Amino acid sequence: MQICRDLPSLRAATAALRADGRRLGLVPTMGALHDGHLALVAAARAAGAGAVAASIFVNPLQFAANEDLARYPRDEAGDLAKLRAAGCDLVWMPPVEAMYPPGAATTVEVAGPSAGFEGDARPGHFRGVATVCCKLFLQSGAEIAAFGEKDWQQLQVVTRMAADLDIPVRILPVATVREADGLAMSSRNRYLTTAERATAPLLHRRMTEAAAAIAAGAPIAPTLERARAALCDAGFAPDYLAAVEAATLRPLDAPSRDTPMRLLAAARLGAVRLLDNIPLGAPAGTPGPG
Ligand code: PAF
Repeated sequence: MQICRDLPSLRAATAALRADGRRLGLVPTMGALHDGHLALVAAARAAGAGAVAASIFVNPLQFAANEDLARYPRDEAGDLAKLRAAGCDLVWMPPVEAMYPPGAATTVEVAGPSAGFEGDARPGHFRGVATVCCKLFLQSGAEIAAFGEKDWQQLQVVTRMAADLDIPVRILPVATVREADGLAMSSRNRYLTTAERATAPLLHRRMTEAAAAIAAGAPIAPTLERARAALCDAGFAPDYLAAVEAATLRPLDAPSRDTPMRLLAAARLGAVRLLDNIPLGAPAGTPGPG
């Protein structure tokens, strides 16, 4: 597994990987890797990437002013060992000055799916994500880039950005990897206390129950209000729990049979902000528009 820390060596390494006709897959990460990240490596390979590169870069541009970049977990040796064991071919670990040299003045702003939800909670976050992902795609020349569905809004922002800028990369959505009790894997889970960790799976459980009720014909707003109240009773401070059009994140107040829907949630448990999302099916027989 090759490790590149500057752009010329990345360009040489990716050119060599592609020289024998292999398609390059990219797994963008900020490190602190868990099984969810390693599933992205496997998914890129299964989708036809003959070689897989992972990037590890804690992107300062996507941290809001009130978020502590210095406290973001870092474990370079552990991450490299996991990527090597997962069969990764190359790791791109640029220093901040290589990614954003002095004088850098260009950012990528994606309207549409960046609005609302995490866009409201973390001002500037998606500008940072879109900018770094755009750079990672152009630097690596990857043909496939794998993103977890866990960060659903990020996945839609990056998909929109690649389409709008005609970047020849296929964005590959990869299903959320969960712990046995349903909690979505996340680098933030390590900050839960033992008691919070025991409560945390309730987020996914209440969402699953609400989605099942809506699919069985229950009205969206009161169903989500009941789920929100149950989460508050369990000790969560829900930020949002919303039914949206899956690709645009436009909120929906009635189910739609014709548009894929998603149930999105963010809730604070103690000091940890948990995110989750699941598909939302329309009740059988729901009429489409017109
Ligand atoms: O999901 C993440 O870890 C980051 O937002 C990403 C996509 C690597 C961009 O920095």
